[in-house]
Amino acid sequence: MQRSSRKAEPMKIQVLFLFLLSLLSGAISQQIQYAIPEELARGLRVGNLAKDLKLSVQELSARKLRVSSENFFSVSAESGDLLVNGRIDREEVCGRKSECALEFEMVAENPMNVFHVIVAIQDINDNAPRFTAKGIDLEICESALPGVKFPLDSAQDADVESNSLKIYTINSNEHFSVTTKESPDGSKYPELLLEKPLDREQQSSHQLILTAMDGGDPPLSGTTQIRIQVTDANDNAPVFSQETYRVSLQENVPLGTSVLQVMATDQDEGVNAEITYAFLSAPTSTSLLFNLNPNTGDITTNGTLDFEKTSRYMLVVEAKDGGVHTAHCNVQIEIVDENDNAPEVTLMSYSNQIPEDSDLGTVIALFKVRDRDSGQNGLVTCYIQEDIPFKLESTSKNYYKLVIDSALDREQMAEYNVTITATDKGKPSLFSSTSVTLHISDINDNAPVFHQASYVIHVAENNPPGASIAQVSASDPDLGPNGRVSYSIVNSDLEPRALASYVSVSAQSGVVFAQRAFDHEQLRAFELTLQARDQGSPALSANVSLRVLVGDRNDNAPRVLYPALGPDGSALFDTVPRAAQPGYLVTKVVAVDADSGHNAWLSYHVLQASEPGLFSLGLRTGEVRTARALGDRDAARQRLLVAVRDGGQPPLSATATLLLVFADSLQEVLPDVSDRPAPSDPQAELQFYLVVALALVSVLFLLAVILALALRLRRSSHPAAWTCFLRDLSSKSGPGVLPSYSEGTLPYSYNMCVASRLAKTEFTFSNLKPEMAPPQDLLCDNPSMDVCVSNEDPQIVYDSSFASHVSFCKPAFIFSRA
Ligand SMILES: *[C@@H]1O[C@H](CO)[C@@H](O)[C@H](O)[C@H]1NC(C)=O
Ligand SMILES: *[C@@H]1O[C@H](CO)[C@@H](O)[C@H](O)[C@H]1NC(C)=O
Ligand SMILES: *[C@@H]1O[C@H](CO)[C@@H](O)[C@H](O)[C@H]1NC(C)=O
Repeated sequence: MQRSSRKAEPMKIQVLFLFLLSLLSGAISQQIQYAIPEELARGLRVGNLAKDLKLSVQELSARKLRVSSENFFSVSAESGDLLVNGRIDREEVCGRKSECALEFEMVAENPMNVFHVIVAIQDINDNAPRFTAKGIDLEICESALPGVKFPLDSAQDADVESNSLKIYTINSNEHFSVTTKESPDGSKYPELLLEKPLDREQQSSHQLILTAMDGGDPPLSGTTQIRIQVTDANDNAPVFSQETYRVSLQENVPLGTSVLQVMATDQDEGVNAEITYAFLSAPTSTSLLFNLNPNTGDITTNGTLDFEKTSRYMLVVEAKDGGVHTAHCNVQIEIVDENDNAPEVTLMSYSNQIPEDSDLGTVIALFKVRDRDSGQNGLVTCYIQEDIPFKLESTSKNYYKLVIDSALDREQMAEYNVTITATDKGKPSLFSSTSVTLHISDINDNAPVFHQASYVIHVAENNPPGASIAQVSASDPDLGPNGRVSYSIVNSDLEPRALASYVSVSAQSGVVFAQRAFDHEQLRAFELTLQARDQGSPALSANVSLRVLVGDRNDNAPRVLYPALGPDGSALFDTVPRAAQPGYLVTKVVAVDADSGHNAWLSYHVLQASEPGLFSLGLRTGEVRTARALGDRDAARQRLLVAVRDGGQPPLSATATLLLVFADSLQEVLPDVSDRPAPSDPQAELQFYLVVALALVSVLFLLAVILALALRLRRSSHPAAWTCFLRDLSSKSGPGVLPSYSEGTLPYSYNMCVASRLAKTEFTFSNLKPEMAPPQDLLCDNPSMDVCVSNEDPQIVYDSSFASHVSFCKPAFIFSRA
């Protein structure tokens, strides 16, 4: 009210001016003007209208002054004042017009008069600036440069003139400022200015208070919030958590083992922070060994890691964000050795053939060991089996030589399989071995050795000449010619000239052959030195003694020394005293036998006695004794045929005829001395003819057999047998080999020839032994005694009971036969 009253004075002048103007223009267009501030309270006086209309107070009721517009104003009937009747809001009435007036008419009656009243409404600062939106949202990229401007929505202030919006301010902050700009229509808007670069990574959003202030007094203000979202710019490179990653990894880890994870971070966000990893500048072979997960940075193995190939891998991993930024880190992977390599043994050289006389220390082989592992895993020791005559010597690092440690003997061991084992010191240790076969070559270091220290052989006499009688053998463990033994006779106690006719030895087989039939009675034993000699160079030899004992055969018949025949072939006689008592030693038959042993053990038998029982004969002594006293009827001359038989098998015998004369003096018997025993004993004669007939029949039978055999052999497909037969039987065969029975050689060749064919022909010529058949011109002095004497050679007596020729010699010829 005070404020309005103060304004009333200048208004009066204005009203006056308007009144004058209305007077000039006529009664109708009389104008009265007032000015009031807006928002006056109801009932407040705008002006004294009555006075301004020159109306007295008394007149008022008569004139019935009224306002055409009752909305805002009314007229006081008492005072004639124009009063505010309702709320007058300038902004409502006039909006944003700077001049605002309410025009209305006042109507008076008696007389009717119309007055034009203009009430100017003056603005008061009753409106604060107001932002329409609740807040302002802005997105500013962090990469925005300082100086960038962001025009903002303006605030509205309904007041005008000085009361209208004047300035925008912002709360103090380090990044932004605000300036107030005027748009062409005169309105003012705020403009945000970036003063200092933003960093989303430091502060991703900012909140500012924007204040709009008008020019009133006191000024009014309105605020709003500016919410600034700093958007990301890819302004950060990825950063690895470590510059270099180090890891140790056992070799031979399985495929896909996680090695490590590299980790890079990017402070940006979104795609700008999406990091992918990749190997950079790694050789392909290496990068193939490892797998890098591009998203997680996990490095896993993608192959077998071999310390021996590469002990350390250096990889460069690049991290790349969604933009252009990259970062690098080093990955250093140390491979830890495992004992996964067995040592290797490589034979450099070796001699396959080692002479058995090689010196100790001779190098046989040279080899090398290697272990690809390192450290203890690669430390190699070498050894060979213990039971062999070799040893290992280390020459230089990893080189070994195999040398001879003890003497070699091919005969004991001709071949060695040397196994060289190399083992490392890893845990567990690995080993490998190589075998080499060494052959020991032969040296003639062994002399032949006879299987017996000495040989004693027994050969029965009359052995077939040319037959083997013994075999010596020596062995020589050496190889080839060094062990090939040949035999020879180097010495003997025989006369060197005679030696060859006695024995020979086969050089190859060591079989000793008799070259002739031995005669026990001539040579009972002899000794040979045989040598076995190998063919080495130099040759080695050994001697052995071979003693040949010639055994006896019963090839000598007993020979009667007494009673001897007289020089004319007649028997001598012995006299017996007539009064000889029984047991009287009459005589003694003395016989010898050139054989020995049983073959020479003689026994005496009475073959024939003219008075049996008169004499007894000592079986072993040959003593002839009277068995009883001579009887009266006994003849004075007694004849006693005594057989002397040796103990051989079969036995040979000889006979002696004793002529015993009972007489008391020699003269008494002399006339009878020349008495020959009566040859014409009828019984003996008969026996003789029987024997002859029997022999004749036998000879005929044999001839028939021979003839049959000859025919059969001629047809047979065995010419060899035939020739054999022919050669031996036919008198036309060999030059001058007509059989000579007395020599005794032919029967042996028969036997030998036939023996080889024996199995096929089933026939033995021994049946034909010619010596069994006595020569035809025999003269048997006493056929009854089974003994025949050749009249050509009286030394030879044929005993028909044993078909071998025996010698029976007259005393004069006893030693002449040899
Ligand atoms: C993994 O190894 C296999 C076979 O050697 C090869 O084909 C593949 O490319 C490797 N992978 C990587 C990622 O190196
Ligand atoms: C050596 O080895 C070979 C082949 O394995 C074998 O035939 C031979 O009998 C072996 N020799 C010895 C002495 O072990
Ligand atoms: C063998 O006997 C011969 C002749 O007696 C002799 O020369 C040689 O030295 C002997 N050899 C040996 C090894 O005894």
